Amino acid sequence: MELFGKMGSLPATLLFLFLIVSSHFSPSIGGDILTPGQPLSDGQELISAGERCALGFFSPVNTSNRYVGIWYKVSSDTIVWVANRQHPISERNGSLSIAANGTLIITDQNSKPIWSSGSSGLASPVAQLLDDANFIVKEAKGDGNIVPGSFAWQSSDHPTDTLLPGMKFGWNLTSGLNRNITSWASPSDPAPGPYTMFLDLHGDPQIILLEDSNQRWRVGPWNGQRFSGIPDIMRYKVFILDFVINNDEVFYMYNTTSMSIIARLTVDYTGQVQRLVWLNDSQMWSVYLSEPKDICDYVSQCGAYGVCNPDDSPVCTCLQGFKPRSPENWDLREGKDGCVRMTELDCRNGTDGFVTIEETKLPDTSRSTVDRSIGLDECRASCLRNCSCTAYASANINGTGCIIWTTELTDIRVYTFGGQDLYVRLAAADLGLESDHSHSRTIAGIVVGSVAGILLLSSVGICVWMKRRRTVSLGAIPFASHRNNEYKDGKDWDLPLFDLGTIIAATDNFSIENKLGKGGFGPVYKGMLGEEQEIAVKRLSKTSTQGADEFMNEVMLIAKLQHRNLVRLLGCCTQGEERMLVYEYMPNKSLDAFIFDKDKGVLLDWQTRFNIIEGIAQGLLYLHRDSRLRIIHRDLKASNILLDKDMNPKISDFGLARIFREDETALNTRRVVGTYGYMSPEYAMDGVFSVKSDVFSFGVLVLEIISGKKNRGISISEYEGNLLAHAWSLWMHGNGFELVDKSISNSISMVEALNSIKVGLLCVQECPKDRPTMSSVVLMLSSKNASLTDPKHPGFFPTRASSTTESSKSKTNSASINELSVTIVEGR
Ligand SMILES: *[C@@H]1O[C@H](CO)[C@@H](O)[C@H](O)[C@H]1NC(C)=O
Ligand SMILES: *[C@@H]1O[C@H](CO)[C@@H](O)[C@H](O)[C@H]1NC(C)=O
Ligand SMILES: *[C@@H]1O[C@H](CO)[C@@H](O)[C@H](O)[C@H]1NC(C)=O
Ligand SMILES: *[C@@H]1O[C@H](CO)[C@@H](O)[C@H](O)[C@H]1NC(C)=O
Ligand SMILES: *[C@@H]1O[C@H](CO)[C@@H](O)[C@H](O)[C@H]1NC(C)=O
Ligand SMILES: *[C@@H]1O[C@H](CO)[C@@H](O)[C@H](O)[C@H]1NC(C)=O
Ligand SMILES: *[C@@H]1O[C@H](CO)[C@@H](O)[C@H](O)[C@H]1NC(C)=O
Ligand SMILES: *[C@@H]1O[C@H](CO)[C@@H](O)[C@H](O)[C@H]1NC(C)=O
Ligand SMILES: *[C@@H]1O[C@H](CO)[C@@H](O)[C@H](O)[C@H]1NC(C)=O
Ligand SMILES: *[C@@H]1O[C@H](CO)[C@@H](O)[C@H](O)[C@H]1NC(C)=O
Repeated sequence: MELFGKMGSLPATLLFLFLIVSSHFSPSIGGDILTPGQPLSDGQELISAGERCALGFFSPVNTSNRYVGIWYKVSSDTIVWVANRQHPISERNGSLSIAANGTLIITDQNSKPIWSSGSSGLASPVAQLLDDANFIVKEAKGDGNIVPGSFAWQSSDHPTDTLLPGMKFGWNLTSGLNRNITSWASPSDPAPGPYTMFLDLHGDPQIILLEDSNQRWRVGPWNGQRFSGIPDIMRYKVFILDFVINNDEVFYMYNTTSMSIIARLTVDYTGQVQRLVWLNDSQMWSVYLSEPKDICDYVSQCGAYGVCNPDDSPVCTCLQGFKPRSPENWDLREGKDGCVRMTELDCRNGTDGFVTIEETKLPDTSRSTVDRSIGLDECRASCLRNCSCTAYASANINGTGCIIWTTELTDIRVYTFGGQDLYVRLAAADLGLESDHSHSRTIAGIVVGSVAGILLLSSVGICVWMKRRRTVSLGAIPFASHRNNEYKDGKDWDLPLFDLGTIIAATDNFSIENKLGKGGFGPVYKGMLGEEQEIAVKRLSKTSTQGADEFMNEVMLIAKLQHRNLVRLLGCCTQGEERMLVYEYMPNKSLDAFIFDKDKGVLLDWQTRFNIIEGIAQGLLYLHRDSRLRIIHRDLKASNILLDKDMNPKISDFGLARIFREDETALNTRRVVGTYGYMSPEYAMDGVFSVKSDVFSFGVLVLEIISGKKNRGISISEYEGNLLAHAWSLWMHGNGFELVDKSISNSISMVEALNSIKVGLLCVQECPKDRPTMSSVVLMLSSKNASLTDPKHPGFFPTRASSTTESSKSKTNSASINELSVTIVEGR
């Protein structure tokens, strides 16, 4: 561009006419400041001081209309704020200026003002783009430094569809300023669309997502730590959330733990609320949260006094002491009519009591009353005193504060975890009843297509699978301390503790020659214990802040696992700051080195590959079912399958992930768990995992082993590189055999290969409940003549962050993991 000289010169103008694709390519006019008399014309940009953000003219995808907006430099297609969202400029010669009275003004091609910010009454105003993407108007004050809070106007008080870190969402009660966010009308039109998220001040303040004027999703009241309607938000350790209620303000705000994390929260034009984080490595937005997530998130599915549980079928039940208002509709699975009381309350006799409903999303609080000064006992008494009181709950999950409902209770749902106790008032006669809503804790695997419809490569399916489960922090497993190589009778968790000297000797002081590679947690070294035992030593990075006890607990867990298809842990070493795990050495390294390598791939003939598939299945079955602890591996992939000298597969790397503290930033640990292409859709998108997410990864692995090709994330426009899509398409056309790696076609058993492909496809089906368990997989693999059910559509896992503000540029994306820990599934 520089070559063509100044803007406005003839060549540049001509060039503009031909360059209609990209919008932001021109030099900045003078850093981050806009001063009176120096307008910003189309093609110019303001760049914030730290070069984090830019402001300028842009065109959304598929339109030539021009708007003034702000974007992060790393992702210029994602517009985080728009000034003239309802008033586009049709030519590329609009301009943005600041008037002498401090008003920001955008003029169109006819020099007509089409947008202005309102007057600021400053003597010598300037506008400045800050690094947090806030565009402010302030007094110039000579040196141009910012006096915090002195902004006469700021873009963050007028958000569009995006809430950025540090922006307030909600009310200034003094000025009546109401900051809410409204979706774009479409990806090409930033004008307000039908979806608005706002903070409702009635009762206990709560955030509500509207579709036109109807409630779509109730985020719910703030319970001191999180919103009642987002039970799992505490997983998101890179965010700090804040909800402030005082006499001047009621607002919600989030921030990232570091300025290096680029994040946004947006209501997209399809009505999904998404929290996203920019991944520098893969140059894409990763979706942390996308709501509404399941059917019960949609407001009041089950009407008054109904409870929505996505794991039940039908999803609606009545609260204990209530019966369906219209049983006919209820039988037709239409729950919106809700429920009515079986026995009227008997207020004056004082015989009423309460039933506790656990793990709920609190009912709509807009008509509740809150008293933050009293505790739960007083709350109960206060509810009993008021004859119209129907329920009470703590306002804060630390047990303080009191919410009282005196109207009917609507929009109640239950969660597997993370809900709150709700105390519902009942007449004495109904207190002893068993609720028809059983409190079985089941895991919900509701996969509502939560990414914009256009991006869904498969039809939006709703499926449910259930599994009784409990997440146990490994740190909670009982642990008794013990010393070097001391074996205690009857305690099979004892594991040799190697001393540092032994390891140093074995690895030749961690010599570079002995370094086998680098895992996520630190380097791995080969070593010789004594004359003949070869070992692999995984040395944890010193930066890991894992406590000694937790580390030991983890070791105990892994030590308990013994199976010929799991890598065997021989011992560990904790001395000083050193933490090391000693494994049996696997001379043939990992599976990926063979199957994805043309030359080495030949070494794995069909029989060997089939044995590997069977071995992995056995190992996984052991983890899922046969070991005393049920373990979900969560990171099954070719590089985690090690091969012994006879090419027997051994699953490795289980449980180690937990060695990282969860609050270590996800951005650092994300790399550890290779997720590219192996994650099931429900895990990737909703963080829901179960044995069936391992089954999914296993299916991917099977197809990779057979085809010798890597499954990758999927690119939005094409199936290229996505093995699942490719395999599915071949299978559907009756050409499944073509999937087989050409380099082994001479050794192949057609029957076994086709059978295995089918098993692979069954494992990667979109709905977790359709996927077989590992025990059926083992059976299916061994019985060559069994007629297996036909696989349904695989979960392709479209990970691309969908949003109104992204261009149509397509990229191949990978998934991310937000949290690293091992979950233990409890037996039924
Ligand atoms: C842009 O237009 C093309 C062609 O009409 C269409 O295929 C594409 O989906 C549009 N993109 C968006 C984001 O609307
Ligand atoms: C903008 O461009 C249009 C057509 O190219 C022209 O008619 C108009 O005068 C221009 N306006 C300004 C302010 O330069
Ligand atoms: C501020 O200045 C602009 C441009 O001169 C003008 O259009 C606007 O009316 C002024 N606003 C006030 C409140 O004076
Ligand atoms: C709220 O608005 C009033 C009136 O405009 C203003 O004085 C006050 O500073 C604002 N409060 C905050 C916290 O911004
Ligand atoms: C959203 O904010 C705008 C501007 O303050 C206001 O006019 C509108 O009523 C608000 N909508 C809701 C639902 O609060
Ligand atoms: C948000 O966090 C960053 C550092 O991570 C800090 O510099 C900034 O002041 C915070 N913003 C607010 C509004 O608290
Ligand atoms: C991501 O890249 C941007 C721009 O290069 C940089 O400012 C930021 O610190 C990086 N963030 C992380 C977490 O590495
Ligand atoms: C109070 O209880 C008694 C006995 O259970 C019953 O006969 C009476 O009707 C009740 N009073 C009211 C006002 O419901
Ligand atoms: C019961 O509570 C509601 C809501 O706080 C209140 O409006 C009503 O006056 C109370 N009734 C009695 C009898 O105290
Ligand atoms: C509970 O949380 C509230 C609000 O965060 C706080 O004011 C209160 O002191 C806390 N109480 C206890 C017992 O921790």
